[in-house]
Amino acid sequence: MKQLLANRVKTLTPSTTLAITAKAKELKEQGIDVIGLGAGEPDFNTPQNILIAAKESMDAGYTKYTPAGGLPALKKAIIDKLARDNSLTYKANEIIVGVGAKHVLYTLFQVILNEGDEVIIPIPYWVSYPEQVKLAGGVPVYVEGTQEQSYKITPQQLRDAITEKTKAVIINSPSNPSGMIYTKEELAELAKVAEEKDILIVSDEIYEKLVYNGIEHYSIAQISDAIKARTIVVNGVAKSHSMTGWRIGYAAGDAAIIKAMTDLASHSTSNSTTTAQYATIEAYNGSQETVEKMRQAFESRLEVIFPKIAAIPGVKVLKPQGAFYLLPDVSETAAKTGYLSVDDFASALLTEANVAVIPGSGFGSPTTIRLSYATSLELLEEAVRRIEAFVKAKWQD
Ligand SMILES: Cc1ncc(COP(=O)(O)O)c(C=O)c1O
Repeated sequence: MKQLLANRVKTLTPSTTLAITAKAKELKEQGIDVIGLGAGEPDFNTPQNILIAAKESMDAGYTKYTPAGGLPALKKAIIDKLARDNSLTYKANEIIVGVGAKHVLYTLFQVILNEGDEVIIPIPYWVSYPEQVKLAGGVPVYVEGTQEQSYKITPQQLRDAITEKTKAVIINSPSNPSGMIYTKEELAELAKVAEEKDILIVSDEIYEKLVYNGIEHYSIAQISDAIKARTIVVNGVAKSHSMTGWRIGYAAGDAAIIKAMTDLASHSTSNSTTTAQYATIEAYNGSQETVEKMRQAFESRLEVIFPKIAAIPGVKVLKPQGAFYLLPDVSETAAKTGYLSVDDFASALLTEANVAVIPGSGFGSPTTIRLSYATSLELLEEAVRRIEAFVKAKWQD
């Protein structure tokens, strides 16, 4: 038989996050009491007003195709949101609504990358960036933001990584997995390099609403009109409004890029689900009270759980400023408890301590593990007790 699969998918690696979640589920089904700290989604229901808007739209018969790039009323709600929250002005032809921020990013790389074009991806990164870039024929170029530099890259690192082939840099602030946020000044410095070297900026702002310690989210597109012109802002309602399953995301940026993305969507997904689009209109136009309540819940969990994680022997951890993840460096903990790698340590945590965490190797950061605090405080505290007991029982100086 001829080769079944295209070369394109031969090196495709499945999401590590989903793999651990599947393993944890398997153990749970065997009756083992596993605590999952792998979650990449808020543990709250979608707010009631959004559910009602979705039902009302179905009852009114709005269940047919919409324009491929999204309902005009939703684009208007997004334009208003960008003006209100980010002081950014866009026109309808500069907005596309897609099937979650993930698919919007996928479509974006498909329309901006030629074979061999390079995209700079800061480490630690969200698992899908490298795969999406490669699927579009691009080449990921990694730049490491070490823990010592708060998991952020410097302007000099960015400058050094840019070549003739560089098309774009991805900025994800607040970051998954590190929870770190670039300051306005840091963004301005990175933007200066992007402008000088004439590259695009892909700004993934999906965790915009989950920021702590009084920090305010700032979009790199706000720096200047010139920077806005070379930035594609990607965002959505998954994390902000606890709407992961509704699959709505959007991009805002250059009209020609948005048109190409819309044309591509018209031959791939068509529109994103009509009901979900109506729900998102309410998410943006309705009360934002529940968004703030969810943010506060995450922040209070972080306050409780952070010092406990930091106190586990060998752990080196920075206090995150956003998102809902902690990214402790556990290389010393793994070594002192007899594991050759952090991956092995994470596997043992699952099978022996029954706590599921995501090994950082999937984020380009093999000395770390990612712990999600999108779960109840009670479970978080029990998980930390288990990890601590596991480490103390095995620790050898
Ligand atoms: C950094 C980052 N970007 C994008 C996404 C995708 O979000 P969506 O559910 O809207 O596709 C996620 C989801 O985990 C994420 O963590």
